Amino acid sequence: MDVYGLIGNPVEHSLSPPMHEAGYEERGIDARYVTFEPDPDALATALDGAAALGVRGLNVTIPFKQDVLAHVDPDPLAERIGAVNTVDFGPVLDGDRASEPDESASTPRGYNTDAAGVQRAFTHHDVALAGADAVVVGAGGAGRAAAFALADAAADVHVANRTAAKAESLAAEVPGATGGGLDTLSAEVPAADVLVNATSVGMESDETPVPEELLHADMAVLDAVYTPIETRLLRAADAAGATTIDGAWMLLFQGVEAFEIWTDEPAPVEAMNAALRDRL
Ligand code: ATR
Repeated sequence: MDVYGLIGNPVEHSLSPPMHEAGYEERGIDARYVTFEPDPDALATALDGAAALGVRGLNVTIPFKQDVLAHVDPDPLAERIGAVNTVDFGPVLDGDRASEPDESASTPRGYNTDAAGVQRAFTHHDVALAGADAVVVGAGGAGRAAAFALADAAADVHVANRTAAKAESLAAEVPGATGGGLDTLSAEVPAADVLVNATSVGMESDETPVPEELLHADMAVLDAVYTPIETRLLRAADAAGATTIDGAWMLLFQGVEAFEIWTDEPAPVEAMNAALRDRL
């Protein structure tokens, strides 16, 4: 039996175990997905222990996403984002990792599938990103992943954040991007083709980070917040005639991407989506 899991704190209410286990069941893979809450000071020991025990893969969430970068071999996108949410301990080529003589070859690989989660949430809804004018609201971890994801998909990115300096420094790292405070939304949103809320505004509250009158029918709006599943932003976007994509799609596709990295086969998207939506 293969073991996968999630490390973070807290993780007890995570939806990833049922989502991934539905995928294993659908594909006939003998595996379990479990949650771990290591002591923040023991991250390196926890990763070594997981590798020694033969854990195949770990998702990583708050507060470890940045710290884990130092303990893995990150792919270039994860390195640019500055955060890893998926660790792959799987065998290199067909060799047995434990018998690899070269130490570097046994370093687990790190990925950021939040970026693919953003791209795939849009493409699943037939929203084209190449050449699109994209607005990312937020410049924290989710905002960084969204900004790099959209730029990699050839969108023109604008980052707007409450703390303007954070948006400006993120924009300086993302090819072709611009950045500013939330006051820039009034100029950017009316011309936007896609918008991502990557702030926590609207989580368990009836608030929106984007003035509702700026939303329009010729745009697609993805809210990374999924509690509630229909946020005030999505309600307003729907009322304006926009395409709406709720946060569960982003959660689903970051998991789908991790599943595919770990198992090397296409994920059963429908089964994983059903398991996720059952619990929301
Ligand atoms: P995550 O990893 O989920 O992105 P984070 O790194 O803490 O979490 O980032 C939270 C984001 O939500 C930030 O962009 C933050 O803006 P600041 O950089 O100015 O702090 C944004 N945010 C949180 N509360 C907000 C609020 N009440 N209004 C506007 N933006 C808010």
